[in-house]
Amino acid sequence: MHKTVAKTVLPAKRLRGDFTVPGDKSISHRAIMFASLAQGESRIRGLLRGEDCLSTLHAFQCLGIAVAEKGEDDIIIQGRGLDGLREPDNVIDCGNSGTTMRLMSGILAAQPFFSILTGDQYLRKRPMGRVIGPLTAMGAGILGRDKNSKAPLAIDGGGLTATEYHSPIASAQVKSAVILAGMQIDGTTTVYEPHLSRDHSERMLRYFGADLESFSGGTRVNGRVQLHGKDVDVPGDISSAAFFLVAGLIVPDSELLLKNVGVNPTRSGVIDILQQMGGSIELTNLRELSGEPVADLLVKSSNLQGIDIGGDLIPRAIDEFPVISVAAAFAEGVTTIRDARELRVKETDRIAAMCECLGALGVAIEPLEDGMRVAGGKTINGGEVNSFGDHRIAMSMAIAALGAAADIKIVDTTCTQTSFPGFWELLDQVAEV
Ligand code: S3P
Repeated sequence: MHKTVAKTVLPAKRLRGDFTVPGDKSISHRAIMFASLAQGESRIRGLLRGEDCLSTLHAFQCLGIAVAEKGEDDIIIQGRGLDGLREPDNVIDCGNSGTTMRLMSGILAAQPFFSILTGDQYLRKRPMGRVIGPLTAMGAGILGRDKNSKAPLAIDGGGLTATEYHSPIASAQVKSAVILAGMQIDGTTTVYEPHLSRDHSERMLRYFGADLESFSGGTRVNGRVQLHGKDVDVPGDISSAAFFLVAGLIVPDSELLLKNVGVNPTRSGVIDILQQMGGSIELTNLRELSGEPVADLLVKSSNLQGIDIGGDLIPRAIDEFPVISVAAAFAEGVTTIRDARELRVKETDRIAAMCECLGALGVAIEPLEDGMRVAGGKTINGGEVNSFGDHRIAMSMAIAALGAAADIKIVDTTCTQTSFPGFWELLDQVAEV
């Protein structure tokens, strides 16, 4: 259980610095999972040591995987192949991590043993029917609370058959759960999705040797192909970089260089959105790291304009809307975000949370059923807000404070450990108050 720690963030005169942000959360989870399912040793460098990824690491230790720590963000995993996991002798705790729970469901559904996945008070409220449905259709025995829709999940694994699944939502967690189940069984499993969601699973599974093909509208995997241990270099997380991109844009006289940030096109929607709003963000030193595109990002203070955001851009920026709504509050004119109903089922209801937080500081923000409307450009007052235990809400409000008229106190900030250890220290380092 987190202790509730409040932080007060002061308005900043300017921001300066060049730095890296911690490793990508989605890629770190997958590196741990696929290395465990591969045969032989994998070294993972740049691993995010956030609580979510530690939940995944701990889950695989419970399943019999040996992990050696080489350094703070550098580990070696001894993979045991597709058939090497063993039945856990206790419940597996996924903490706050939806990615751990949903992807593990896919992995464990195909394993011939019994397992139970649970999580913290927030994760136990989030929808799990979206993975239970397709995995049950493949033949898995999964039971969950609340009419089979919520964790804890009891999984009686094994005996699956390959499937074709048409996902009604663009969710990488759903897509990955089905692909991971399909990868372990005979036959070809195909997942179709309405818009392309992040494709880290597809890229990394191919990198580890899986027989997997992506096509317009979906992904197909041929099962029972053994993965082989590989070294993975995890790039900086664009979702963490996003806080400093917005900070650099909204605080006058700022210039920040964020080095080694993952810019996978299925994740870089936040850069496109901020550039469309008039933000100066330059990508340099574009290169590839373990199958993922990476760049350095130079951001300079800019006069932002409100825009309309919807459609394909939504899954490409799904985790960044809390901080995008902060950018919108500092932009001239109206920003409208639509087609983003998924925000209601993240770590908290992020539409309600951002409307409450920014509204409390005097921002004209209005919730929509599938998004929000922000009329920006007016002074943002100081005050007190709550993170609702959501790491991205806490960090977004810290960024709002840098450009506000007075201090903002944020209640419940330990949740930032979920994805961004060192966030507050980095903020102190780059902000001149
Ligand atoms: C993630 C997928 C997204 C994202 C989450 C991480 C992943 O969730 O919001 O933070 O690593 O696959 P959905 O798949 O539910 O959209």
